Amino acid sequence: MIRSVVRGFGASLPKRVLTNKELEGLVETSDEWIVQRTGIRQRYIAGEGETTASLGEAAARAALERAGLTPADLDIIILATSTPDNTFPATAVNIQNRLGMHHGAAFDVQAVCSGFIYAMATADAYLRGGLAKRALVIGAETFSRILDWNDRTTCVLFGDGAGAVILEAVESSGETADRGVLTCQLRSDGAHQQKLYVDGGPSTTGTVGHLRMEGREVFKHAVGMITDVIEDAFTATGTQIEDLDWLVPHQANRRIIDASAKKLGIPLEKVVVTVDLHGNTSAASIPLALATAAGDGRIKQGDLVLLEAMGGGFTWGSVLLRW
Ligand code: ACO
Repeated sequence: MIRSVVRGFGASLPKRVLTNKELEGLVETSDEWIVQRTGIRQRYIAGEGETTASLGEAAARAALERAGLTPADLDIIILATSTPDNTFPATAVNIQNRLGMHHGAAFDVQAVCSGFIYAMATADAYLRGGLAKRALVIGAETFSRILDWNDRTTCVLFGDGAGAVILEAVESSGETADRGVLTCQLRSDGAHQQKLYVDGGPSTTGTVGHLRMEGREVFKHAVGMITDVIEDAFTATGTQIEDLDWLVPHQANRRIIDASAKKLGIPLEKVVVTVDLHGNTSAASIPLALATAAGDGRIKQGDLVLLEAMGGGFTWGSVLLRW
C-alpha cells in the first residue's frame, strides 16, 4: 500500500510583530486580559507587499529546501486558506507561478481553521490514489486583512503567517510503525455557520467583509468536537493515547488546547504550543507549529504525531501520522 510520508517542512512569518501592549493603544484591552483568556502574547501582521501568496511561497521554498527538492519534483500544490489574494484564481496557482512551476495542478481548500487538516487529507487521498507522487501542502493566511480592528473581542486573537509540508507517496507494509499518514478524520456541520463567519462575500455583499465570532459559543463546542476526532483517529488505527509522541493542535487559544489535552489525558509536555508567539493564524497554525517543533528537534523521525483543528463552519478534523 501507499503511505504519504513527510519529506520536508517550512514556515514563514511577516516582518512585523504586534504585541499585546501595542493593542492596548488600538482597542480597550490589556495584555493581562489577552494572556489570561487566550495565552497569546504577540502575533505577526502582514505589511505592504506581504500577502497570503508571498508568505505561502516563502514557506514552500523553505520546505523544498529542507526536502532537497525543487518545484520540478512536485505534482500538486494544495493551499489551505480563507484569506486568498483574490476571489479567483486560487492563490495556489499564484504560488505555483511564483515557484516557476508550470506543470501539475494547484488549487485552494477552504475549511477555515481546519483548512490544513482538510488539505492534508486531500493530498493523502491524491497520493494514495496514485494521482500524484509528491504534494506540497500549504496553510497560509492574512487574517489581519479581514479583522474589524475596532472589535476587541476578535482583533486581539488572530495573526498572519504560513507553513508548508511536502508529502511523498512511499510504498509501505501498512504497519502503524511505518512512516506516513495513518488516518485522516474530517467533519463539518453547517448548522453552526453563524457562530464564526465573515460578513461579506462575492455572491452576497460584493465585499470582502469582516470576521465575526460568538467566542463563547465556539469555546463551548470546541473541546468536545476536537476530542471526538482525536478518539476516532486512535480507534481507526488501533493505537492509543499512550503511543502518542506529540499533539500538534490548531493554535486558537491556550485554554482550548489545555482543556482538550486534559480531557484526553495527554500530558502537556507532549503538546506543541505556539499560540503565545503567533496568535491564531487559522489554516497556517498547524504547519507553523509543526515547523517550529520539528525545526527545534522536538519532533523526530518515527514519532507518532497527531494534528487536530476546529474552526468556522463548524469544521473539525484530525490527522494521525508517523513523522
Ligand atoms: N479585552 C478586554 N476585555 C474584553 C476583550 C478584550 N480583548 N474582549 C472581550 N472582552 C470583555 C467582554 O466585553 C466581556 O465584558 P463584559 O463582561 O463587561 O460583557 C468580558 O471581556 C468577557 O467576555 P467573554 O466573551 O465572555 O470572554 P471569554 O472568557 O469567553 O473569552 C474568548 C473570550 C477568548 C474569545 C473565548 O470565548 C474563547 O476563547 N473562545 C473561543 C474562540 C476562539 O478561540 N476562536 C478562534 C477561532 S475558532 C478556532 O480557531 C477554533
